[in-house]
Amino acid sequence: MTIPPAIRESGVETAIVLGSGLGFFTESVPCGFSLEYSAIEGMPASSVPGHAGRFVLARLGSKPLLIAQGRVHLYEGWSAGEVVRHIQFMHKAGIRRIILTNAAGSLNPLFEPGSWMSISDHINLTGESPLRGGPNFFDMSNVYSQRLRGIFTAAARDSSQPLHHGVYAAMPGPQFETPAEIRMLSRLGADAVGMSTVHEAIQASALGMEVAGISCLTNWAAGLSPSPLSYEEVTIVGQQSAGGMVELIHRALPAI
Ligand code: HPA
Repeated sequence: MTIPPAIRESGVETAIVLGSGLGFFTESVPCGFSLEYSAIEGMPASSVPGHAGRFVLARLGSKPLLIAQGRVHLYEGWSAGEVVRHIQFMHKAGIRRIILTNAAGSLNPLFEPGSWMSISDHINLTGESPLRGGPNFFDMSNVYSQRLRGIFTAAARDSSQPLHHGVYAAMPGPQFETPAEIRMLSRLGADAVGMSTVHEAIQASALGMEVAGISCLTNWAAGLSPSPLSYEEVTIVGQQSAGGMVELIHRALPAI
């Protein structure tokens, strides 16, 4: 993977990965150089609508920001090693702090759809790890940076938005969960459920990056509301809530 000079010479150290329906974020910031994932050797490209598949170099105030617009998932048939290629690329490009965003279902009756959750920890139920084959026994006690969580908490307070804190459980998908699976996840201590992020967090952390995870809670998880789950609902609520995330990032970035 060769890093283009435009990225290498920008001095960018902070990145954000945009999840389902959040690609819209790039429209709110001045963007410059962009690079399609498909132009990078060894990088898988997503087949899921709402996941564009490109890096965009943006500027927020005086600071450069590398945006990874779109990701690939295990459920598309990629391995855990393949779904973290963008993380490896960004590390090589000089990224030291990364904000992972996603869309997730809410299991916590106090966390309404349309609100945001700062990930305090995760439960990886996918049965996969990008570290398979080494390094072994990487310590996972503090994956989600306390410092970054504090910055996001302060940013949410300043913008008068609720920001919940909770545990994200990753399921392999591609189907949504059954109500029985959701009851199981609740008992395991999960507040939100999704199909991404944990492998990126593991890889970024193992590469020494500071990691933050922010979930857009797009729906009540299966069995918690009478309406059936749909990907359309996930992307629509994600898009409707993206404005809040834009504000959060704008407020948080100067302190990051
Ligand atoms: N389950 C799994 N993944 C999701 C959900 C959900 O309810 N909502 C958004 N992504």
